[in-house]
Amino acid sequence: MPDTIHWGILGAGSIARKFADGLRVLPDAELTAIGSRSLEKADSFGDEFGVPVRCGSYEQLARLPQADAIYVATPHSMHKEHSLLCLEAGKAVLCEKPFTINAAEARQVIDCARRQRVFLMEAMWTRFLPVMYKVREWLATGALGEVRMLTADFGFRCGWNPESRLLDPELGGGSLLDVGVYTIALAYMVYGRAPSQLMGLPHLGETGVDEQAAYLLGYDRGELAVLSSAVRTNTPQEARIDGTQGRLRLDGFWHATRATLFVDGKEPEVVELPFRGNGYECEAEEVGRCLREGKLESDVLPLSETLSIMETMDELRRQWGLKYPTE
Ligand SMILES: NC(=O)c1ccc[n+]([C@@H]2O[C@H](COP(=O)([O-])OP(=O)(O)OC[C@H]3O[C@@H](n4cnc5c(N)ncnc54)[C@H](OP(=O)(O)O)[C@@H]3O)[C@@H](O)[C@H]2O)c1
Repeated sequence: MPDTIHWGILGAGSIARKFADGLRVLPDAELTAIGSRSLEKADSFGDEFGVPVRCGSYEQLARLPQADAIYVATPHSMHKEHSLLCLEAGKAVLCEKPFTINAAEARQVIDCARRQRVFLMEAMWTRFLPVMYKVREWLATGALGEVRMLTADFGFRCGWNPESRLLDPELGGGSLLDVGVYTIALAYMVYGRAPSQLMGLPHLGETGVDEQAAYLLGYDRGELAVLSSAVRTNTPQEARIDGTQGRLRLDGFWHATRATLFVDGKEPEVVELPFRGNGYECEAEEVGRCLREGKLESDVLPLSETLSIMETMDELRRQWGLKYPTE
């Protein structure tokens, strides 16, 4: 693997722009190529971010010898197809969250990466933020005592557009897959394992997807995660981790730069860890580190965990009777 990781972005949409912006602060990463269904769109993205290679099809991007890694930034329902396209062409893949629509698709993509012996990771960028390394250190050293309860919400109010990817079932709409996945991934980070019990209640709106939902994850020692998500309701987007000797608060947990530790009987400890760029550089940096070390997956976010997160979301949707047209 060269010292500089040459990136390609597949899909010139909104998150692709943020990722491209994040890459600018990494000295050992270069945005080499952009692939879009339309060459005009690729050109305009290329002009905006100074990208030398512009491809008018995803197939052309996947075949480019210049690209070491491809960031898949299309709607959820296309993650499987586009990740497979790149993996089969031998490219390392960083795929946006949710990894796929369901666990069966996730298994197919993971199997392909293993067969091809190429790197694959879910772009759960929150996991790689500097403050999350500090949170994991506090948890590992027992700063809160034994963790008993996690409370996290991620809700925002989108405008009413039934054809948008947030509400359209064809594109994998709904709050669980779009933002609930952050709360569930946080529960996996905090408890380090899959829940043993799950229950939830959604509000399925006019388009049939969960406009909001609340869910409870239970663990084998009685620990709980109390989680919620919404795409039509603004919520504070906070996380709180409660332990037997204290608690931890993360405001705007999915893009946090600050964490506060409250240990019983002590002054609160506030840790501020700002991003160098917009925060999306952190996941790209992890991919670079893994590629240089010859790893096929990240140990900070292993593929087995990504798959288990998908299984948890499948089970919630099974309970809610929420199926996507592709299932
Ligand atoms: N990590 C984060 O913070 C974050 C934030 C937002 C979204 N996301 C994730 O990123 C993914 C993309 O979200 P986004 O907000 O960037 O979406 P978006 O603005 O709609 O962009 C998606 C891009 O996918 C391509 N695409 C291919 N087939 C499409 C189709 N049938 N309909 C619409 N677009 C299609 C298009 O690119 P071309 O026209 O160039 O081919 C489009 O611009 C989602 O899975 C979402 O969960 C992550």
